[in-house]
Amino acid sequence: MALVTTTEMFKKAYNGGYAIGAFNVNNMEIVQGITEAASELKSPVILQVSKGARAYANHKYLVKMVEAAVEENPDIPIALHLDHGDSFELCKSCIDGGFTSVMIDASSKPFAENIELTKKVVEYAHAHGAVVEAELGTLAGIEDEVVVEAGHESYTRPEEVQEFVDKTGCDSLAIAIGTSHGAYKFTAAQCTRNADGILVPPPLRFDVLEECMKRLPGFPIVLHGSSSVPQEFVKMVNDFGGSMPDAVGIPEEQLRQAAKLAVCKINIDSDIRLAMTGNIRKYFAENPSHFDPRQYLKPARQAVKDMVAHKIINVLGSNGQA
Ligand code: G3H
Ligand code: 13P
Ligand code: ZN
Repeated sequence: MALVTTTEMFKKAYNGGYAIGAFNVNNMEIVQGITEAASELKSPVILQVSKGARAYANHKYLVKMVEAAVEENPDIPIALHLDHGDSFELCKSCIDGGFTSVMIDASSKPFAENIELTKKVVEYAHAHGAVVEAELGTLAGIEDEVVVEAGHESYTRPEEVQEFVDKTGCDSLAIAIGTSHGAYKFTAAQCTRNADGILVPPPLRFDVLEECMKRLPGFPIVLHGSSSVPQEFVKMVNDFGGSMPDAVGIPEEQLRQAAKLAVCKINIDSDIRLAMTGNIRKYFAENPSHFDPRQYLKPARQAVKDMVAHKIINVLGSNGQA
């Protein structure tokens, strides 16, 4: 199977009450870990590339690695998506360079400008067989170079979504309902603490999601900032020389609930970073004389695979849907 767009994936996911995982890729081990898990579980998957990933690994290397993964895993649909595209030129370059899906993130611009830029990207993408994700509302956290402090985020306004989708023709819409980018999604002041002293974040705004769904029946919704920041990885980092106090993510049960509703794409990056870093730190601590990168990247890749398999089964519900 060649690279696919997300159109069919989202239609089936919406009707089936599950979501597709969109995992950020930056190197070979990440691409392999994700696609091996998806392939074994017969799950469709989206591999997404940020502007930062392109700057780090080079567009050509990333596309070739993803093409290799497609060849190695012919039985599952794989889409290649630009994450947080910030200009028409960047989206065009990715579409011209083999991506099947792009995000134009003009959510920090005024409503009319967001519509204008999104529409321009949609026209180009659709003329070239690609699909477009757009965004309304602002998440807290870090999106490439844009940093939004906790407390300065703004939830999506449901009364705007229908006009936005009608006027832009976008294929999916990312909304802000309380998720946030990175491993520190909430300040301690925004959370309560459980009996173990672990931060418990405020619940997602399902009321906002449901209002958006009412206005956009059948339309695929996207959630960014959806890492759960598993405490086992945070502990591993902290136990082996790292320092990530009060790292906190989105509880998995809430994401599972969103996946049963209109949320068809769930973005996960930070959990990949945590799985790799925790395991590499542990490996170094336990094997201080080892210096062959293959020795410590192997458990890191396995950790990505195990983590993605866990998400597919317990959070996304996309196993067996390829
Ligand atoms: O939303 C941001 C993603 O986690 C990508 O992060 O820009 O550091 O590659 P990055
Ligand atoms: P996390 O930082 O929660 O993994 O979010 C990733 C993301 O939204 C990529 O666009
Ligand atoms: Zn994002």
